[in-house]
Amino acid sequence: MSDEDHGLDRGLTNYGDRDFARFLRRSFARSMGISTGLLNRPVIGIAMTPSGFNNCHRLMPELVDAVCRGVLAAGALPLPFPTISLGEVFLNPTSMMYRNLMAMDTEEMILAQPMDAVVLIGGCDKTVPAQLMGAASANLPAIQLVTGPMSTGRHRGQRLGACTDCRGFWAKYRAGEIDRREIDSAEGQLSVTAGTCAVMGTASTMACIAEALGMSLPGTAAIPAVNSARLVAAEETGRAAVGLLTTKITPSQVITEQSVENAFRVLMAIGGSTNAVIHLTAIAGRLGIRVSRERLNQISDETPVLVDLKPVGEGYMEDFHAAGGVGAVLRELRPLLHLDTIDIEGRTLAERLEAPLDWVDRTVIRPFGDPVSPVGGLIALAGTLAPDGAIFKRAAATPGLFETEGRAVVFTGLEDLARRIDDPELDVKPGDVLVLQNAGPHAAGMPEAGYLPIPKKLARAGIKDMVRISDARMSGTAFGTIVLHVAPEAAIGGPLAAVRNGDRIRLSVARKRIDLLVEDAEIRRRLADFSPPPAPARGYKALYRRSVTQAPEGCDFDFLAGK
Ligand code: FES
Repeated sequence: MSDEDHGLDRGLTNYGDRDFARFLRRSFARSMGISTGLLNRPVIGIAMTPSGFNNCHRLMPELVDAVCRGVLAAGALPLPFPTISLGEVFLNPTSMMYRNLMAMDTEEMILAQPMDAVVLIGGCDKTVPAQLMGAASANLPAIQLVTGPMSTGRHRGQRLGACTDCRGFWAKYRAGEIDRREIDSAEGQLSVTAGTCAVMGTASTMACIAEALGMSLPGTAAIPAVNSARLVAAEETGRAAVGLLTTKITPSQVITEQSVENAFRVLMAIGGSTNAVIHLTAIAGRLGIRVSRERLNQISDETPVLVDLKPVGEGYMEDFHAAGGVGAVLRELRPLLHLDTIDIEGRTLAERLEAPLDWVDRTVIRPFGDPVSPVGGLIALAGTLAPDGAIFKRAAATPGLFETEGRAVVFTGLEDLARRIDDPELDVKPGDVLVLQNAGPHAAGMPEAGYLPIPKKLARAGIKDMVRISDARMSGTAFGTIVLHVAPEAAIGGPLAAVRNGDRIRLSVARKRIDLLVEDAEIRRRLADFSPPPAPARGYKALYRRSVTQAPEGCDFDFLAGK
């Protein structure tokens, strides 16, 4: 491709006759009914992700229209194109398994098709990380737009939002506190509009991270999906994409070690999802950027939780938007941020934060000096049970369980868990530690199974929380004293595979440790018998098993990570 190639002339198919390739492409393009004047303009690709299996993207068509409006008004040709879409609750075994597939789809379609810059429109949990991973690798000028969060519903006077309240209601139902009629009635009030989950779950966390990184326009992360301001943001995003044709700013200039650290600070301050640690690690990893466990913990210890939203606190994303959104959080964190990072429009963070906000709702976004919690929401643990690390969301855990030593009650996999957790004969008591094995990336694609249910007989006795440990993930909307992402996972012979019923396990949040209190020699003896679960024989699942990395590397494919 020559330097002058732009728009539809980019990346012509090579038939050995360049002029013929151009002629052929343009003659087919004419069939789209677009005037030749427009066909000669620079092209802005729009990676769109509508799907009948993705409720969170229901308003994608009007977002695409609004982006097109902005692109046209700024003088370029918008060409939307589909990629796969991942609707969190419709994918089996887990959406996580398909994040890398979507990232590959996004990267390859950006590079294979003739576009000068791209707008990425995602929202539901895995879609924004997948798009940012793909865009980082493609490194064409790119800008992220999110679909925005749902608005809340009402049930018997109570305000509800997916999906922290889904879990709260289900826990009450399991404990016998509400009946079938009430749970059925609540079911219709939890997700009442288009958009992503209404709390600071993974989707909202990733939207905030995209804005903190500088990959989306300031002030756009939290606008509710149904608010007209979201369409204006989409139009502005289209205009900004055309601006990229002049500045030629690429993702690798925006996603830097410094902006990734800023994003980790925001993750801590918003009490964001544990999944975001994996996703941000994978995005950064595409550009060869690594943030160590020690640095993550340093950032966490220095950064207070400022945002009072579920699942950590009380509010919903619509409150966060009305309160001032990511801009207000960034202004509070200012002394801790790298202010010389640039956003996709070329502004430094210092310039972005120069103008004060008119008003901030301090019940939702607290001042730095009066935080929800003086330390960050997430920490990395390590110890004999997780030599390569684990993640713990202290902001959503029970402080009384932070220093726990208990007896292990082990489930060897998801089926074993489903079969026995509510068995009245299960040998479990309050103070025990529930352990789930074989739910990591290799074994099961790392589903959100780390929020093990409290055994029914204990739930009915009033037990609300227990220490739970696994190599799985947890929904960003969930809460509890839960150790996740244990690495190495059980299915590749990590010490988690060696845990047996009755072993003692010690969690120390103060020391950031998770230990199996069994002699090393005994752990080695038990692991000598270890054999990995059988690998899928064909297709994407076989590729996944062969190539997926562990959580501390972002669960990306080893052949996609940057150097
Ligand atoms: Fe799509 Fe929660 S299900 S964001």
